Amino acid sequence: MSRSDELQEFLQETRNYLSLCKEMKWAEYVMVPKTIPVSVNQQTLERLREEVNNCNKCILSETRTNVVFGEGNNSPDVVFIGEAPGRDEDSQGKPFVGRAGQLLTKIIQAMGFNREDVYIANILKCRPPDNRNPLPNEIKLCEPYLIHQLEILRPRVIIALGTFAAQTLLKTEEPIGKLRGKMHFYHQIPLMPTYHPAFLLRSPGKKRDVWQDIKQVMVLLSSSETSD
Ligand code: URA
Repeated sequence: MSRSDELQEFLQETRNYLSLCKEMKWAEYVMVPKTIPVSVNQQTLERLREEVNNCNKCILSETRTNVVFGEGNNSPDVVFIGEAPGRDEDSQGKPFVGRAGQLLTKIIQAMGFNREDVYIANILKCRPPDNRNPLPNEIKLCEPYLIHQLEILRPRVIIALGTFAAQTLLKTEEPIGKLRGKMHFYHQIPLMPTYHPAFLLRSPGKKRDVWQDIKQVMVLLSSSETSD
C-alpha cells in the first residue's frame, strides 16, 4: 500500500472512530480535566508504593525478590497494564524490562512517546513462581492496589496487554482476539485490549493488529487533546 493510500485509510478510520465517539458520548469520559497537581500525585503514589512494598497478603510475598509497583509518568495520558512480573522484572523491581519489555518500548516509541511519558504496571505486583498463571485469590487481593493507582494517575486511556490483563480488567472470559480492536471501559476510563508483546515475539504477524489498536488509542488521545 502506498503512503498516500495508508494516509487515506488512516483518515477514514479516524473519521469513523470520531463519529463512533460522538454517537456513544465518549467525550464525557475523555474530557475530564486533570485538576490534581502532579506533586500531589507523586506523594500519594509514593505512599501507595510503600504500602505495596510491605504487602504480605498472599503467598507471592514469600517468593518475590522485589515488588514491581509500576513506573512512569505520574500524570500520564496512557497506562499500559500487563499480567505480572517475570524473572527480569522481579530481580530489577521494574515492569517490562525483559525481551517483551523491549518490544513494548518500541510500541511506545512508535506512538511518539518515551517510556517516561507513559505509566507501566501489571495486574499483580509480585512474580508468580515459574511464571505460572496468577490465581484468582492473588488477583482479588492485588487488584485494589491497581485501582487505587489508576485513581491517582487518572490516565486518558488504558492499554491492556494480553489475554490475562484484558480478561481480568474487563471481568470476562472472551478471548483477546475478540476483545481487541474495540474500546471498552475500566472504572470509566477508556480501555483498549491488545496482544501481549511476548505473544508478538512468537507471532510477529499479529503486530499489524496491535498497530490498528494503537492507532485507535492515538485518535482518542488527539480528540481529547483538542477538547481540553
Ligand atoms: N510480562 C508482563 O505481563 N509484565 C511484565 O512486567 C513483564 C512481562
